[in-house]
Amino acid sequence: MRKKVTVVGGGFVGSTTAQRLVDAELADVVLTDILEGVPAGKALDLLESTPISGSDVHAVGLTTTNPDDYRATANSDIIVITAGFPRKPGMSRDDLLRANYDVIRAVVEAVVRYSPNAILIMVTNPLDAMAQAALKLSGFSRNRVLGMAGVLDSARMSTFVAQELGVSVENVHSFVLGGHGDDMVPLPRYSTVAGIPLPDLLPPEKIAAIVERTRKGGAEIVNLLKTGSAYYAPSAAVVEMVEAILKDKKKILPCSVYLDGEYGIQGLFVGVPVKLGARGVEQILEIRLTPEEEAALKRSAASVRELVQVLGL
Ligand code: 2OP
Repeated sequence: MRKKVTVVGGGFVGSTTAQRLVDAELADVVLTDILEGVPAGKALDLLESTPISGSDVHAVGLTTTNPDDYRATANSDIIVITAGFPRKPGMSRDDLLRANYDVIRAVVEAVVRYSPNAILIMVTNPLDAMAQAALKLSGFSRNRVLGMAGVLDSARMSTFVAQELGVSVENVHSFVLGGHGDDMVPLPRYSTVAGIPLPDLLPPEKIAAIVERTRKGGAEIVNLLKTGSAYYAPSAAVVEMVEAILKDKKKILPCSVYLDGEYGIQGLFVGVPVKLGARGVEQILEIRLTPEEEAALKRSAASVRELVQVLGL
């Protein structure tokens, strides 16, 4: 039987995620949105692309104006939640906090009713706080709720490294930890090009510039687009996570997960390397950090904690 993935939110992130899932023939896809007609139209359009792409999966769109409308999402293996307000220029991810909490509360309560065994991948910002909210609202165990951020932030860093060195993106492996905010923690020491540590290839000032651009990567796109935030790289990141879970790949990826003492952080979602497989987060990897890296991770965690406390989670 084919796998089933529900994507909540038919905006750019949600619809490009649906498109990538269908193109990769990973699962049947349900795309939901509160707008009338739009999810059905996008899903039908996507479905009509499958004879050309050769993808034998279904795509359906669903307008959800009350909790019962989620019935067609029943028994999803994975639910990707992208619903919420996007960032506008000058707005931080954190400004979105309360507005998006209300959105995801309604969504999480509805989807878990119909898919009690699903794995939830949160995409809505502010990412780590929304993932923490989803864990609490769903009542799921922590291995089944995770946030997409580290894969995206690492991909941005890899892009800049590849550009700087003029090498294939396939040679670059970047490592970004921490919350998905301006104080995220890119780790040059653990970032490599064909296995060679980044500090052996670039001078400190070039690395510092790449770290800074990575931290501001989301805002750079928002400032260019003016009316929304990034979606091509975010959707690619979500699909890498979905694939790792559906194919039980045991792939190590940086994701936002609930830490219960790991890295000295208690009761908080923060981005760290995890092993993703059929059970969701199957292992949290604790890598050794220098005192400076550890302090940066703690600072980033403190920013997430502030948001979580505002929401009383
Ligand atoms: C980003 O980093 C919007 O948080 C999203 O592009």
